[in-house]
Amino acid sequence: MTLDFVIGHLSPAPWPGCQGGAVLVITMDAILPLKDKHIVLGICGGIAAFQIADLASKLTQAGAKVDCVLTESAAKFVAPLTFATVTGRPALTDADLWRHDLHVPHVTLGESANLLIIVPATANTIAKLAHGQADNLLTVTALAARCPIVIVPAMDGAMWSNAATQANVETLRARRGARHSHSAMAANTPKKNPSRTAGSCRRSSLIKRKYSRVRLNIILFARMLSMPSFKKQLFEQFARVGRALGSGHRMEILELLAQGERSVEALAALTGLSVANTSQHLQQLRRVGLVATRKEGLRVHYRLADPAVSELLGAMQRIAERQFAEVGRIVRSYLSAKDDLEPVSRAELLERAARCDVTIVDVRPPEEFAAGPLPGARNVPLGELEARRGKLPRGREVVAYCRGPYCLMSYEAVELLRRKGHKARRLENGLPEWRLAGLPVEQG
Ligand SMILES: Cc1cc2nc3c(=O)[nH]c(=O)nc-3n(C[C@H](O)[C@H](O)[C@H](O)COP(=O)(O)O)c2cc1C
Repeated sequence: MTLDFVIGHLSPAPWPGCQGGAVLVITMDAILPLKDKHIVLGICGGIAAFQIADLASKLTQAGAKVDCVLTESAAKFVAPLTFATVTGRPALTDADLWRHDLHVPHVTLGESANLLIIVPATANTIAKLAHGQADNLLTVTALAARCPIVIVPAMDGAMWSNAATQANVETLRARRGARHSHSAMAANTPKKNPSRTAGSCRRSSLIKRKYSRVRLNIILFARMLSMPSFKKQLFEQFARVGRALGSGHRMEILELLAQGERSVEALAALTGLSVANTSQHLQQLRRVGLVATRKEGLRVHYRLADPAVSELLGAMQRIAERQFAEVGRIVRSYLSAKDDLEPVSRAELLERAARCDVTIVDVRPPEEFAAGPLPGARNVPLGELEARRGKLPRGREVVAYCRGPYCLMSYEAVELLRRKGHKARRLENGLPEWRLAGLPVEQG
């Protein structure tokens, strides 16, 4: 008989923020014949607990002797009576740990069971199992168990992907198999016990085969469990970055940070947002690791956490420009109207700079220039250009650059210089793109 059992947060998600993943299909008779097998079902306090009554019922119908052990939290989700009814056996809770009439249930349960399935395994119980804690009947049973243990985690996506849970799961995975070296089956191996009879050797190898099938299935469980949720969790994390980028203000803040480190106050002044609002945007960016901080006294300075953030920003801008006619219209009406001459390419600038045939002007504010300009560039902030343009060598073309492809400063600079009779052009894109192309930047 094939017994399929599905556990997990199936769609619709049971509560907001809960993942639809972690769906596990247990095909019981692929593991071991169920008739007369003693299976302990450990049920923890997760939302999926209500589904386990069905599993307990199916295992019982398939001929297994099923003992359900509920944690205190599990009993809040489903009454022990439900499990007692479907299995025809008393459902055990922590109160049974202290009963005199049962003979040391914490040890006997674990000793006599052919299989212990902990389902749903909460983050809390997984943590306890990983650390060998034994503070309730279920964890004591798990610690005393000589049989294979199947752990079926079920929890919300954030709890599952939390580094602590992942570390605990890893600990348990690494321990898989180690348990068997202390088990009866391992102790019965002919190598260690050469005096064993042929009959007991045959018996032990039979047990071994059965158990190794179980072990194999534990691995399969882990795979089955982790495969669908693995991708879901990954994409959920990727989507967090997408959500953090889903604001024009935050994109603008990132473009400013691509020029160099800034305080909240400086960013607020540059974007025209309030300090509180800017700070909230920065928190969102920081939570997903797009920006990093440095504290100096009471002041917090922000910077891009990774140069790849600049790349990401550039890719988003390029896609939007290709896909949305509106972006092209805005660019044409604001930027091309100011300067429709082809900008100087990076390769051309490098070549002309080597021949000293060009004056490179960084028109960004001094603090951005100080964070690291193009080699040989001089800083003439846009606001000072009119007053200081007389100092620029007349015979050479001026190449102006600023923050990036949508920054107006270099457009306005070349417009002003040309009006005053200078030969001037823009550099394609800005400093972040120069840096991303792997070209040299002076140390700030
Ligand atoms: C409505 C509700 C649903 C919960 N669902 C889960 C869950 O699916 N997975 C989980 O790990 N914890 C869940 N928890 C939290 C656990 O119940 C809590 O961590 C508890 O201490 C677990 O105890 P236990 O591991 O001894 O069963 C939930 C809590 C509540 C109130």
